[in-house]
Amino acid sequence: LARTASARSGGSKGTDAVGVVLAAGKGKRMRSDTPKAVIHVAGKPLARHAVDACLGAGMRRVLVVIGHGGDEVREAVGQDVQYVEQSEQLGTGHALASAEKALAAHRGTIVVVPGDAPLMTPPILRALLRTHRRCGTLATIMAAELDNPYGYGRLLYNDDGTLARIVEERDATPAQRRIRDANVGFYAFECPQIFRYLKKIRTDNKQKEYYLTDIAAVLRAAKQRVGVYRCPDAEHTYGINSPGEWSQAEAILRRRTMERMMARGVRIVDPESTYVDVTVEIGADTIIYPGCIIEGATRIAGGCRIGPWARLRNARVGKNASVIAAFVFESTIDPNVSVGPFAHLRDGARIRDGAQIGNFVEVKKSDIGAGVMAKHLTYVGDAQVGEMTNIGAGCITCNYDGMKKNRTVIGKRCFVGSNTTLIAPLTVEDESYVAAGSTINMRVPAESLAIARSRQINKPGWAAMRRRMRRRANAK
Ligand code: UD1
Ligand code: CA
Repeated sequence: LARTASARSGGSKGTDAVGVVLAAGKGKRMRSDTPKAVIHVAGKPLARHAVDACLGAGMRRVLVVIGHGGDEVREAVGQDVQYVEQSEQLGTGHALASAEKALAAHRGTIVVVPGDAPLMTPPILRALLRTHRRCGTLATIMAAELDNPYGYGRLLYNDDGTLARIVEERDATPAQRRIRDANVGFYAFECPQIFRYLKKIRTDNKQKEYYLTDIAAVLRAAKQRVGVYRCPDAEHTYGINSPGEWSQAEAILRRRTMERMMARGVRIVDPESTYVDVTVEIGADTIIYPGCIIEGATRIAGGCRIGPWARLRNARVGKNASVIAAFVFESTIDPNVSVGPFAHLRDGARIRDGAQIGNFVEVKKSDIGAGVMAKHLTYVGDAQVGEMTNIGAGCITCNYDGMKKNRTVIGKRCFVGSNTTLIAPLTVEDESYVAAGSTINMRVPAESLAIARSRQINKPGWAAMRRRMRRRANAK
């Protein structure tokens, strides 16, 4: 509690410390062609989590060291940071050295943050900075007690309790590997002095890389004290080096996101079966039933009923709407709308106030007016449908002629009968009727009835005639 309170009081203040995010590595252990920095973790590119932790801690300037897949990383992380290129990935020490030029004018602290640790939060970074100030050292290293420290550097101490050096997993002896006191890859350093010591790092290790972690031994040799900040909650420090760790980190981020939402009055029936990105916002009194996946920039207002079984990505949902067992992608649902079960909205569908989109209805790039009912088995694509119009079961807009997409415009208060085929480009004007089973390819004028189907013929006595014919055939 005390920690939270002090973290909050420091929250509004900015800091002159500069964030340096190391994100040039390939992420070999991920076994993927995608650069690790851009993989999406609970809705955000991995390296963007690091940037947001820095910005959230009040750092006004953040440098991102890029290399592997640099252009992709820039694109994914965004334009509110400064990029520094590390031409060759020669290790974390070399990565920080690549930022020396960009930091030439900086007199003061930098906070080095690994680009692959998305669980870090601003209060912890601020606590690292406070410890660093108190220590008054050139370097302060963040450490944590890990239950499973495999893969992390381990802290080795001198007899007097001061930090001696950090040994990497691969270079550690079996006894050293049993140490649970780990370097978690976050540091505070003083500029410009730190760059002088960085130059003394050598590559005499298993990976033949410049390890940033060797800064501890270098400073020690130069009789410089090194501060240690112990992260009070190891969960904040986990890095992602493998697909398994990717899933674990996402599970933690989801849990945190849902706890935050529930604290604000969102009802989540079963957090275990609910998947929510960190970027999602949900209003109070909305209930999320089991089996929902809610992603990206989705915003759900209050008083809605979502699920069971719905997937929403970059969706906007107005208040008191209901979405049951549906896919809603890049689409907007206004208040009081009901969608599903088994509906699919995509590519900029807009469903206006109180409309009802029922089972097996797909709406693509269409504007559906207020109070419209399309309740069964329909495809509406590249269309505009006026308010209070009824779309019968099995109505299809034929928007694609094999070469391009064409628009269908249906007016207000129309009645489009069941099983109709509307061949676009087409306009059905206000208050008109389209007879069931019609194939319509000409404008339907306002207030008229369009019928486009072959006339029904009834043949009285035909069944009896057929029976007689069959009997005769059998007799032969
Ligand atoms: C590093 C630390 C280890 C620590 C762990 C915490 C070193 C040598 N080891 O190991 O002590 O326990 O982080 O998560 O620092 N990067 C570059 N350029 C490079 C190499 C790496 O920008 O040339 C970036 C990577 O993109 C990554 C970060 O630095 O975001 C850490 O690199 P990674 O290879 O994951 O280091 P670890 O083996 O995890
Ligand atoms: Ca790592």
